[in-house]
Amino acid sequence: MSVIVDQFERLTAFAAGVNRLDSLADVLKAPLLKPSGMTTIDVTEDSQLAWRNVTLLTPNYQRTLVRDLSAMVQSGEGLVIVGHSGSGKSSILRAIAGLWNAGTGQIIRPHLTQMMFLPQRPYMVLGSLRSQLLYPKIDGNISEERMRQVLEQVNLADLPERVEGFDAELDWANVLSLGEQQRLAFARLLLTKPPYAILDEATSALDLANEKRLYQLLKAGQTTFVSVGHRASLLQYHEYVLKLDGDANWQWMPVQDYVAELDAFA
Ligand SMILES: Nc1ncnc2c1ncn2[C@@H]1O[C@H](COP(=O)(O)OP(=O)(O)OP(=O)(O)O)[C@@H](O)[C@H]1O
Ligand SMILES: [Mg+2]
Repeated sequence: MSVIVDQFERLTAFAAGVNRLDSLADVLKAPLLKPSGMTTIDVTEDSQLAWRNVTLLTPNYQRTLVRDLSAMVQSGEGLVIVGHSGSGKSSILRAIAGLWNAGTGQIIRPHLTQMMFLPQRPYMVLGSLRSQLLYPKIDGNISEERMRQVLEQVNLADLPERVEGFDAELDWANVLSLGEQQRLAFARLLLTKPPYAILDEATSALDLANEKRLYQLLKAGQTTFVSVGHRASLLQYHEYVLKLDGDANWQWMPVQDYVAELDAFA
């Protein structure tokens, strides 16, 4: 009898726990449920990156970030997205990744394994310097010689010695400065050599010389890239500009035209 009572108590606690989990799951799911009648952007995989009549809204469908965007990034060409803070630059990148899909139209992009996303604050994995460099290919096999070569390219040649080798396990997000983390993320990019790279203020903490070095490497490596950034220094590494005005209007122009526009204002 006492066993039954004991188990019953546990069962009640278990049931209460499941109930709580259930409501937690509801909360987690809630933002993903679109309001009825609302449409989502279609993502189609192909060997190009393009937008066809894309209207992108915030996930709660309250604000239109960009209206009727149609454009294409030619292979080997760089695109830089500009606009003031909050105008929707990162949101366009989120939509490419498929994280945001409120809206209409179609995004055509390569399979996600063909693309690498670099955020402003890179994701530092728990583990060794080696696994830091291999990320996102956790089981990759790259020689130390190749790793050293790439660290040299991103101006981090002394890092293995500083931290006592490729097997050193440190709290990387706190041990490395943001600029060093950004260069490490670029090292991953150079090791992975994806056909497409999406860079959201990925060099914002770097001095101009380091930024130049990284973009030159990227251009030499045949990667097609889309950048977001506030610094005018970024423009020179791209062929096209997508300018957002914050009111859902956009302009697509050759980088020279945008530079001329800036010069006219100066
Ligand atoms: N989860 C969310 N739900 C609703 N609106 C959001 C959400 N996240 C961001 N926003 C809003 O979407 C708008 C566009 O944000 P986004 O991050 O694309 O701006 P941004 O151009 O990248 O700005 P910054 O230059 O500051 O990075 C902003 O007004 C922001 O407040
Ligand atoms: Mg942003």
